[in-house]
Amino acid sequence: MSQALDEIKIGGLGASRKRVEDNRFIRGKGNYTDDITLPGMLHMEILRSPLAHARIRSIDASKAWDIPGVHLVLTGEMMATRNLAWMPTLSYDTQAVLATDKVRFQGQEVACVIADDPYIAKDACEAIEVDYEPLPVIVNPEQALAEGAPVIRDDKENQQNNVVFDWEVGDAAGTDRAFEQADVISRLKLHYPRSHPSPIECCGSIADFNRATSKLTVYMTTQAPHIIRAAVALVAELPEHMIRIISPDIGGGFGNKVPVYPGYVCSILASILLERPVKWIEDKTGNLISTGFARDIYLSGEMALRRDGKILAVRMNCDSDHGAFFSDAQPSKFKIGLLHSAFAAYDIPVAHLTDRGTYTNKAPGGVAYRCSFRVTEAMFFQERMMQAAADDLGMDQAEFRRMNFVRDDDFPHRTPFGFLTDSGQYAKCLDVGLKAIGYEDFRREQAEARKQGRLLGLGISTMTEPLGAGNSREYDILGIKMFDSAELKVHMTGKAIVRTGAKTQGQGHETTWAQIVSHELGIPAEDIVVEEGDTDTAPFGMGTYASRSTPVAGAAVAMVARKIRAKARKLAAHLLEVSEEDIEWELGRFYVRSAPDRGVTIQECAMAAYSNMPDGMEPGLENTAYYDPPNLTWPFAVYIATVEVDPETGVWDVLKLVAVDDCGVRINPMIVEGQIMGGLTEAYAMANMQFITFDAEGNCVGSNYMDYLLPSAWETPGFELHSEVVTPCPHHPIGAKGIGECAAVGGPAAYVNAVMDALSQTGVRNIDMPLLPDRVWEAITYSRDVSGAPPVRSDD
Ligand code: CDP
Repeated sequence: MSQALDEIKIGGLGASRKRVEDNRFIRGKGNYTDDITLPGMLHMEILRSPLAHARIRSIDASKAWDIPGVHLVLTGEMMATRNLAWMPTLSYDTQAVLATDKVRFQGQEVACVIADDPYIAKDACEAIEVDYEPLPVIVNPEQALAEGAPVIRDDKENQQNNVVFDWEVGDAAGTDRAFEQADVISRLKLHYPRSHPSPIECCGSIADFNRATSKLTVYMTTQAPHIIRAAVALVAELPEHMIRIISPDIGGGFGNKVPVYPGYVCSILASILLERPVKWIEDKTGNLISTGFARDIYLSGEMALRRDGKILAVRMNCDSDHGAFFSDAQPSKFKIGLLHSAFAAYDIPVAHLTDRGTYTNKAPGGVAYRCSFRVTEAMFFQERMMQAAADDLGMDQAEFRRMNFVRDDDFPHRTPFGFLTDSGQYAKCLDVGLKAIGYEDFRREQAEARKQGRLLGLGISTMTEPLGAGNSREYDILGIKMFDSAELKVHMTGKAIVRTGAKTQGQGHETTWAQIVSHELGIPAEDIVVEEGDTDTAPFGMGTYASRSTPVAGAAVAMVARKIRAKARKLAAHLLEVSEEDIEWELGRFYVRSAPDRGVTIQECAMAAYSNMPDGMEPGLENTAYYDPPNLTWPFAVYIATVEVDPETGVWDVLKLVAVDDCGVRINPMIVEGQIMGGLTEAYAMANMQFITFDAEGNCVGSNYMDYLLPSAWETPGFELHSEVVTPCPHHPIGAKGIGECAAVGGPAAYVNAVMDALSQTGVRNIDMPLLPDRVWEAITYSRDVSGAPPVRSDD
């Protein structure tokens, strides 16, 4: 009789285990960078530019040096003497660490003061006198590309204009031919506005250089500690084995904590110069105006359609605004991230996409805010375009999508841009969503309401997201191949520690990685501790962003557990005195095939690995796995929102939101639901309220939480989540696909499509996000599209 353990009881796959990390978080016992105090620690503050574009005539820091308690003032000039005024970015560009020649965006780092406490440092920053000569300011690609526009990056040899790159993908000639066959051509143009990940904890670092050991330890808020270690080694020319990056608890990352920021570099240099620990903790405004913006892309496209609704081809032309430095992380092959994942869920024969990246006088942009390298923009455009095309054809929104979906038996499916999607049941997800929202009934209710002057709308959004970069053949950052790793050590009592190259920032890795080990080995999850974020102990990995943890590091955890199980099988054969071939495995136990009652537990095997191993066997039960995924994982989701718009004020309320997510096998269903709810909340914020833009002088409008709104539980709508569709990933060891970003990626179009649907009688084709009441009111009142592109009037 089987003596296998009950997987749910031991906290394996499918168990909605409470998050173990919450034990410390809800007790206020988290250990964030700012919680760390080292003996003799000094504090650093940054002086930022008030102007968006200006030549620096001079910097006089003498008054700052004179303030008691000041230990060091760093300026660009001093950095330049150490060859550190500029640093390489993760996208093969350069970025000023401290400005020397010019400032290129409002909030740019101009000088740093290191003092006994942060208040002295801040006062001293204000005592630094900078003489600026203002220059014309550029805040959008149109201005950047205009004839005679000032060249923002005149620091770069051969840079004659403001173009960062021109990039294209797909089949231009084939697309042209398909357009010639079209019965109907549908067009759409929109701007996906800048948004900011705005994690609760800002960026920060504590650099601690020890002259006696030559070791540099940096505690910092990074989502990718090993990448930072490599960057510090290259920029500061320090030996890599003498650098230890520790990323303690992180209060939200969302992509904001992937790039290398000047504050990190300055705190490291200051610590080396002063031989004391130096702490830099960014303030909220500093974070909002200067670090890792997302989106800011102008998308226009055309869809070639047959009268019966079949999509023949798609053309997309994009202008992306990267700010003053191209400094976000991209797989190096793909200049505009994975924007070309657009339309991957639909069976479209041919497509072509161009993107021109431009420099502007804005903080560096393009960060993958809760998204796999520009997939959010791709899916938003896709679903806005699908809505426009269905309307142009006079077709039902759901039917139009259904007839163009990739069908269940067409996987693996090659998209027109060259991706290979892995698996899915798209129509089934749509059906579940339509039933849950009460599609037919709502359409009737909507028609009735219209007769009474009430505006009801329904928006459908579907998304499939390429999650889990690499494979290493195609994906690298600065040439470092994208794979990940896990190390598992099973102690002699059968307890275990697992370490990975990923870094949790709220996703719950400490809970879910233990569940994977539990599934593979039958060790109860509570007997497994998970550790991440310390480059001296964790195996090399590319970090956590792009929802790559489960697809890559999670897979590595499963693979290392399998290596351990393979060795444990040999130990079991030895203990049971049979040959390995006669051994069977059931959860938590090996047994003799011919005598199932004769068995040994995984814990007994662990003990034997240290006390009773067979002759010739290496002692111990530890291993490491590096996992290079054969492909990305492709989760799928359908989000459907219903809204009511008040025609008098433009205010809109969500009546219902239904989410159907298929992320393959769910490790921890409760954590998955939390991820989806968080994403839908962020999506709602982007669609409804998050307004961070720039006026004509490059002033960042929305640089505080009075203007840049985060939704609270009060205004966030309720969500109805559905988990009945499960399509395991065919190439992931446990069949899981990523989930962390899906709802933030696919959610915005559901809300916006719903509002546009409510306004369908007005002839308005597009209102740019955020759909603020005044924009919606303007669209209704004047029957016109409303653009959100900067510059805005500063009193808007
Ligand atoms: O890379 P990131 O951690 O942001 O995203 P993810 O891999 O999508 O995982 C987010 C959280 O959901 C992690 O704790 C995962 O282990 C969990 N998850 C899950 O339980 N089942 C899945 N199929 C996917 C993720």
